[in-house]
Amino acid sequence: DKSLRDLLLGNVRSVPNFPKPGIIFKDITPLLQDRYLLELTSRLLAEPFRGAKIDFVAGLESRGFLFGTNLAQDLHAGFVPIRKPGKLPASTHSIEYELEYGTDSLEVHTDSIQSGDNVLIHDDLMATGGTSAAASNLIRKMGGNIIGYSFVMEISALGGRRFLDQNLPVHSLLKV
Ligand code: PRP
Ligand code: MG
Repeated sequence: DKSLRDLLLGNVRSVPNFPKPGIIFKDITPLLQDRYLLELTSRLLAEPFRGAKIDFVAGLESRGFLFGTNLAQDLHAGFVPIRKPGKLPASTHSIEYELEYGTDSLEVHTDSIQSGDNVLIHDDLMATGGTSAAASNLIRKMGGNIIGYSFVMEISALGGRRFLDQNLPVHSLLKV
């Protein structure tokens, strides 16, 4: 398992100074591009949640969509996109959250998650945890029951986990 993770980690491309100077972008497109790595990543993401009762995987725009639908299918759940403002066409709930400078918001269709539904939150990356914490608040506002978090990668040094429910499983396939 460790060697499989190392294989995946070796195929995440670090791109310095993207999108801004000083940022090292963690690019997961090599994991999507290779047919074996795509299969392997998808399978390992699903593993910790097999057997859990999950109604929906909620994927966070946009890179949380890449493995999110695969994960939903694998776990026999539906997929719900949580999107940036103005992208979803029908009636939405939204939540604002703080960025380093200013605020942003996330939206979800009102006819998706209903009170009591079990939801797994998925994104490609947890950095500060701000995005997934905001998504959690949005889902809870709808009465959704969050059963855990799934990330392809976590930047551990940023300590984003502290913004997530300490009683829930947080599974990051790769840690840097
Ligand atoms: C990135 C990444 C996560 C989020 C993590 O998304 O895909 O969604 O940031 O950061 P946080 O833990 O500090 O909130 P980004 O906003 O770059 O958009 P994208 O997925 O559409 O590329
Ligand atoms: Mg993102």
